[in-house]
Amino acid sequence: MSEIPVKQVARTLHIQILRHNPQDPDSEPHLQTFELEEADTMTLFIALNEIREQRDPSLQFDFVCRAGICGSCGIIINGRPGLACRTLTRDLPDRITLAPLPAFELIGDLSVNTGVWMRGMSEQLETWVHSQGLEQVNLNAVEQPMEPELAEQIYELERCIECGCCIAACGTAQMREDFIGAVGLNQITRFRLDPRDERTDAQFYELVGDESGVFGCMTLLGCEDMCPKDLPLAAQIAFLRRRMAIAGH
Ligand code: SF4
Ligand code: F3S
Ligand code: FES
Repeated sequence: MSEIPVKQVARTLHIQILRHNPQDPDSEPHLQTFELEEADTMTLFIALNEIREQRDPSLQFDFVCRAGICGSCGIIINGRPGLACRTLTRDLPDRITLAPLPAFELIGDLSVNTGVWMRGMSEQLETWVHSQGLEQVNLNAVEQPMEPELAEQIYELERCIECGCCIAACGTAQMREDFIGAVGLNQITRFRLDPRDERTDAQFYELVGDESGVFGCMTLLGCEDMCPKDLPLAAQIAFLRRRMAIAGH
């Protein structure tokens, strides 16, 4: 006898959002609750759009790709950092609290400026290939082939989308403004692996060998737990620290 499919009753979601507009001197941070009917395969991105389109056009939040690629929709979801576009409401209870990522400049409501933070980190660590060969542009030069395994290792680390979830999840990053976090240490590992980058180990270690880098990390592991790209962040930090200890830094 075939079973009669049970029709799921749609839930009413209670979405509580931390609202604040730092550009408005009269704005005070406060929680505002919106109720909406959950739809099948609804993501938080869809829910937020529905709220903005139908309830409050002033609601601020970021998105670009809607596919977990651009890294712009990071928010705090029931106390944990995550991507709004990759979070299904059915995986959450019907009461959902949303807040902006801490440690970044607040633009308004759920929108933060991760770009300024990431650019600062990138400039501090010089996250580009340092090579004499690349500086003298030669269009006829043939790039040296890279071992596939090494290319794969570099590609793995390049999957970082600079969403800022690892920074928001890191206690050290909340306490130290200058901490480059797991995202910065991931970048250092990526360029250190790259055979085209002529910087020495000593030069790399100089960039991250203090409390703003490897030695600021207290192995809290929130970065790896919350990384939406599942990057092996803790293992890389441990590896860097070990190498630096061996090298006497
Ligand atoms: Fe986001 Fe992971 Fe990159 Fe951190 S390491 S910025 S959590 S993708
Ligand atoms: Fe922070 Fe990750 Fe270290 S959460 S303290 S960078 S292990
Ligand atoms: Fe691009 Fe979510 S909108 S990662």
